[in-house]
Amino acid sequence: MSTPRKLGVLTSGGDAPGMNAAIRAVVRVGIARGLEVIGIQRGYQGLLENQFRPMGLRDVSNTIQRGGTVLHTSRSAEFRTEAGLRQAAENLRRHELDGLLLIGGDGTFRGAVELAVHWPGQLIGLPGTIDNDLCGTDHTIGFDTALNTALEAIDKVRDTAESHERFFLIEVMGRHSGFIALHVGISSGSEEILVPERPFRVTEICERLCTAKARGKTSSIIVVAEGNETGGAFTLAEELKRLSKNEYRVVILGYLQRGGTPTAADRLLGTKLGGYAVDLFLEGRTGVMAGEVGGHLVATPLRETFERRKPLDDYLLRLHRDLSQ
Ligand code: F6P
Repeated sequence: MSTPRKLGVLTSGGDAPGMNAAIRAVVRVGIARGLEVIGIQRGYQGLLENQFRPMGLRDVSNTIQRGGTVLHTSRSAEFRTEAGLRQAAENLRRHELDGLLLIGGDGTFRGAVELAVHWPGQLIGLPGTIDNDLCGTDHTIGFDTALNTALEAIDKVRDTAESHERFFLIEVMGRHSGFIALHVGISSGSEEILVPERPFRVTEICERLCTAKARGKTSSIIVVAEGNETGGAFTLAEELKRLSKNEYRVVILGYLQRGGTPTAADRLLGTKLGGYAVDLFLEGRTGVMAGEVGGHLVATPLRETFERRKPLDDYLLRLHRDLSQ
């Protein structure tokens, strides 16, 4: 009998809800297809430190509903050095892996492209990040949950804003992109949405808020993407206060957005892309990311997923102008 082919799986970068659904699908579909699946703990750092462990069917029981990642994760600066990449390749050879599935964001995929220079095995990415900033997939695993978490928080803040007739600035994550801000801003009926993709002047925001107040609006929510060019919600609040004399309260949602039970959409996406990534491996593909675009499963070269900036929905942005009066 021939030895089964070995497929590794790791999660890297920021954890995202739905990563466990993806790991579970990789393990179960991989085993169903006759593969040996090896989990690598703590992302690229664990790869450097030889933290490999065989994954069986029961290792992923009761994980689909859990946030975070059962494989743990890391951001490893050491991995990205020449010595780190060589060491990682050496470890993959020693454990006789034929392929490696990487669940993470742009940093993870940049690392994979560099690793490909040193290791001839198959490298396949799965988009796991709350930021939704990767091309080659409509949504990344974790985005929908983060969005819903932020939405619930903003709805609560709205109660206070409305009761006290206050202005609130709510800062959401997303690194350099405004997907969470735009989508949660629209769904929460927020008055302003400030994203890095659309430069703005603070005076302009101030004027719009004052006009809305004059029209009878008693509270305003301003959603600020953390990557906006003004330096974050606190700085912006100071500036707005200086210009308008109104009081602005600030809420930074931060890491709350990364954890929690994944939504059905994220469980489904993680599961689908986990299975598809295994299929891509069996087809002999490498250097691609498994994604879903317009309801179709697609494989996109890893470089393309992070080299081009994924555009925000322009229609939503334009619509917001009319909705937020
Ligand atoms: O990429 C996910 C993310 O949560 C970003 O939205 C945020 O800017 C960043 O990670 C925070 O990174 P860290 O976990 O290293 O603080």
